Order: sequence, then C-alpha cells, then structure tokens
Amino acid sequence: MRTPDLSGRRAFVTGGNRGIGLAAVRALAEAGAAVTFTVRSPAAAAEAQDALGGARAEPVLCDVTDAEALARALAPGFDILVNNAGIIGPIAPLADADPDAWAQNIAINLVGAFRAIRLALPAMLARGGGTVVNLSSGAAHRPMEGWSAYCSGKAGLAMLTRCVAEEYAARGIRAFGFAPGVVDTDMQGAIRASGINPVSRLPRDTLRPPEEPGRAIAFLCTPAADPWAGGEVDIRTPAFREAVGLPALP
Ligand SMILES: NC(=O)c1ccc[n+]([C@@H]2O[C@H](COP(=O)([O-])OP(=O)(O)OC[C@H]3O[C@@H](n4cnc5c(N)ncnc54)[C@H](OP(=O)(O)O)[C@@H]3O)[C@@H](O)[C@H]2O)c1
Repeated sequence: MRTPDLSGRRAFVTGGNRGIGLAAVRALAEAGAAVTFTVRSPAAAAEAQDALGGARAEPVLCDVTDAEALARALAPGFDILVNNAGIIGPIAPLADADPDAWAQNIAINLVGAFRAIRLALPAMLARGGGTVVNLSSGAAHRPMEGWSAYCSGKAGLAMLTRCVAEEYAARGIRAFGFAPGVVDTDMQGAIRASGINPVSRLPRDTLRPPEEPGRAIAFLCTPAADPWAGGEVDIRTPAFREAVGLPALP
C-alpha cells in the first residue's frame, strides 16, 4: 500500500466525524498531516476520537452553515481543505420538496463549501499554495429522480471547483472536485430507505468502503495528483485508482 507523505502539512476536513470524512481524517493523519476536523456535538467528537485511536487529529465544534464558527475554526490557517460535509435530502419529487429543506441543502453542500474556501484561501496564498478538495458526485453531472437539491448543489460545487482553479491555480492553489463512488455510509443508508431512484436499490454489498475515498483524498493532496487538478475526478476512473494504489473494481 502506498502512503502519501504529508508531513508538515495542516489539513482541515468538514464533517470529519463519520463516513467518508472520518476516513479522510484517518488517511491524512496517517500520511503525517496535522488534521483538524469539524463536528457538530461534543458526543460526536468523542466518538470520532475513539474511532481514530491515536491518530493526530483534533475535532473542532462547527456547523458549516455558521459563518462565525467556520471563521474561528479556519483562523489558524491550513494547507489542505476538504469540503466533505454534506446532506442528501430533501429526497422528494420537486413539487413535494420542502423549500426550506431544499435551501438548507444548498446552504450546507454549496454555500458552506464556498465560505470555507473563501476563509481558507488567504493563509494558503500566504504560504505559496494549497489544496482544496470538494466532495462531488455523479449527481453533479446528471439529474437523479427525487434529488433536485442534491444534484443542483453538487453541480454548483463542481463549477465552484473550476472557479477556484480559474482564479487561483496560477498562485499555487490546486482544486479538485472528487467523486468518491457509491460508498457504504449513513448517507447511502438514507438513500436505500427512500426507495426513490436506482441508487436506492443498489445492494449494500456492492458499495465500496469509506477507506478507499479516504486514501484517494490524501493522494489528491500530493503533487502526484497534479494531472487531475482543476476539475472533477471520479474514483472509478481506472488510471486514477491505479495512481492512488487502489484495487481495480470488479
Ligand atoms: N456516500 C456516498 O456514496 C457518496 C457519493 C457521492 C458523494 N458523496 C459525498 O461525500 C460527502 C460525505 O458523504 P458521506 O456518505 O460520508 O455522508 P454521511 O455519512 O452522511 O456524513 C456526512 C457528514 O457531513 C456532516 N455534516 C452534515 N451537515 C453538516 C453541517 N451543516 N455542518 C457540518 N457538518 C455537517 C455530518 O455531520 P453530523 O454527524 O453532525 O451530521 C457528517 O460528518 C458528502 O459531501 C456527500 O455528498 C457521498
């Protein structure tokens, strides 16, 4: 197994207490980065720290829709920002979707990521560069029944990744939209429970473990990932899996 070297780097992961975020925190810490990750309760912090064992990672209380909390959390300055926090709902046909829940999805999945990038950029630029990883999805590029908020937010996030590259790549900012595949997390549990579209009917044993996107995110923070910088990369792409050191898909 290849372990990237991120020693001396400081990483910030939103939604790092479970699922893909937790796996990213673990992989970044194993690669030698000093990791800070957001949690929304002390109980979630304690649970995540238990799961992480002795890994070098610090939780910070922060909801990504709380601009002041986000500013406080990002104030120390980081080399790596992983915009992972996200929600799937509301899962409903457009005419039935609750508008407040719809707006909340965009507030977390898109505006939260924008705020975090905006707050992280000055310190990255002062250090001569940095890496932004935005958790994308196949849903950013094709409509899925019942997921209008999620698809719209992820599509916006994919464009935000390109905007970051457009404005800051020349100053050393590497931005990636990273689609993690279909991963066995609580989010997929909620999708299965909804029964709404074909993703909800995927058998659980066909989903991939969170450790795979976790390792891929750590890889994206190294120069070896430069060929994919500035746009979207999907973990199911064979050449990318090989570069990360992940097994070929069945
Ligand atoms: N799983 C998949 O198959 C899949 C596929 C494509 C893309 N993705 C993307 O990958 C990312 C992680 O997904 P996942 O499957 O690991 O989801 P998950 O298991 O549901 O975990 C979501 C994480 O986001 C956090 N979060 C939600 N709202 C937040 C807020 N307002 N402020 C701060 N944190 C918040 C959650 O914190 P709490 O514990 O406090 O709720 C949790 O840590 C998401 O962006 C998702 O869209 C996942």
